[in-house]
Amino acid sequence: MDLDLSTESPSSLETPLLVIPIAEGSGVLDRGPLQALDQHLGGGLTRGPAVDDFKGRAKDRILVYGQEQGPDRVLLLGVGKEEDLDAQALRDVSGRAVREAEGLKITRLALYVSHLAAPSARDWGQAAAEGLALAAWRFQELQAPDEDDAPLVEAATLVVPESGEWGEGVRIGEAFAEGENLARALQARPGNVATPTHLAEEAARIAKEVGLDLTVLGPREMEEEGMKALLSVSRGSDQEPRLMILHHRGGPKGQAPIVLVGKGLTFDAGGISLKPSKGMEDMKYDMSGGAAVLGAMLGVGRAGLPINVTGIVPSSENLINGSATKPGDVIGSRAGKTIEVINTDAEGRLILADALDYATDLTPAAIVDCATLTGACVIALGHHNTAVMGTDDGLIQELEEAGARAGQPCWRLPLGKAYRKQLDSDFADLKNVGGAPGGSITAACFLQEFVGDVPWAHLDIAGTAYGETTRSYLRKGPLGTPTRHLLEWVKARAAGGSA
Ligand code: BES
Ligand code: MN
Ligand code: ZN
Repeated sequence: MDLDLSTESPSSLETPLLVIPIAEGSGVLDRGPLQALDQHLGGGLTRGPAVDDFKGRAKDRILVYGQEQGPDRVLLLGVGKEEDLDAQALRDVSGRAVREAEGLKITRLALYVSHLAAPSARDWGQAAAEGLALAAWRFQELQAPDEDDAPLVEAATLVVPESGEWGEGVRIGEAFAEGENLARALQARPGNVATPTHLAEEAARIAKEVGLDLTVLGPREMEEEGMKALLSVSRGSDQEPRLMILHHRGGPKGQAPIVLVGKGLTFDAGGISLKPSKGMEDMKYDMSGGAAVLGAMLGVGRAGLPINVTGIVPSSENLINGSATKPGDVIGSRAGKTIEVINTDAEGRLILADALDYATDLTPAAIVDCATLTGACVIALGHHNTAVMGTDDGLIQELEEAGARAGQPCWRLPLGKAYRKQLDSDFADLKNVGGAPGGSITAACFLQEFVGDVPWAHLDIAGTAYGETTRSYLRKGPLGTPTRHLLEWVKARAAGGSA
């Protein structure tokens, strides 16, 4: 989507659709430029029935047609109580604006925000840009265009009181939305398209586009690295595994990087511990963590955030053939620990183990991994919160705050020795499953074995990365979570605080 800024008065904007978010009882139509707009429209926004129909409540809307000059259509969208109007509400109403344009089969719109009392123009500019650019995205790579489909909204003008701070926010929001839209596209691509080698090609493309350093490991390099856990998963598949390492060097030389690690399991059939076939098609989404890390690296690079960030994506399929790892097999790992594979469907933690161990060699300031790791997480938290677990209270708090800002909230679950004990094995240093009780927690305990003493947190996104959505700016299917969650965290780290 093309996004530009304007500081023009609403009455003189030449646009097919001018969308204006209005809070309940804010009175903004009775003063200033919006009063002038109402007068220009012959009082159409405030006369009798209009006032009855439109009070600014969350679902209120009225559409008024324009004059010869100025906007062709003016659409008021209610956003509820003024005190509830925050960056997330603006992201939502920006998404609604795009959906309204689609309904009218209009491909460009202007969103008026000059009248909003933004506590931070930068944050609000970012949220508006994100809402617009995320809403305008649709996956249509593999289908003939449908006549009845709404046309995609191609361009939006954000009408702001001043372009400085708002403009800076919009620039960040566009970068973050571009990253999240990449993640959504990678997620949407089926397993036969988005293979590990495909993800590596995409990593190369974004590295070139925004200037990241890229290393890609294949099976030979993984052998040399001793990545026996990752290799044990890909042994059952004809597709070669890949491990991508992307560096964004936006910070001072020598600054310890923060590292993002994402599970890039491009199709999870479960291996010998085969999954039931019902709903198995959704296991193409098992690379959502990897997609989010690639998207976040694109966003970090595009925004030029002043910090050193490394993204690591281990990628494999989990299928079955005559060489596939079997329940009871004991495998090695890069860290040297031996693992009894009780269930080959607990494969995510195996590929992450080697990636996390690799990450610790970079002596990072912190590691955050994200993975569609456990079905248990969906039982625990449903689809409305990512689970966060980890070893560092400060880091977890940063992630809780970043998730809230992004509209991708997370909720903490505990770790601890009692849970770790569920992974004790009679034949190896640990086993890869700890039973049904606390399944998301024991999975995280498994990962913890491979992060040494680096401050680390794990996001289980099994319930939040894909599926249905109530957000106006998303569509069902690939949701892009936690791309902007990670980006908000990186942005706060780059700013040197929790801003
Ligand atoms: N990719 C799955 C987790 C998953 C399940 C994500 C449902 C999204 C929706 C993971 O690899 C897996 O299969 N986990 C097992 C672990 C079990 C064998 C301990 C699970 O959750 O059943
Ligand atoms: Mn699995
Ligand atoms: Zn999996």
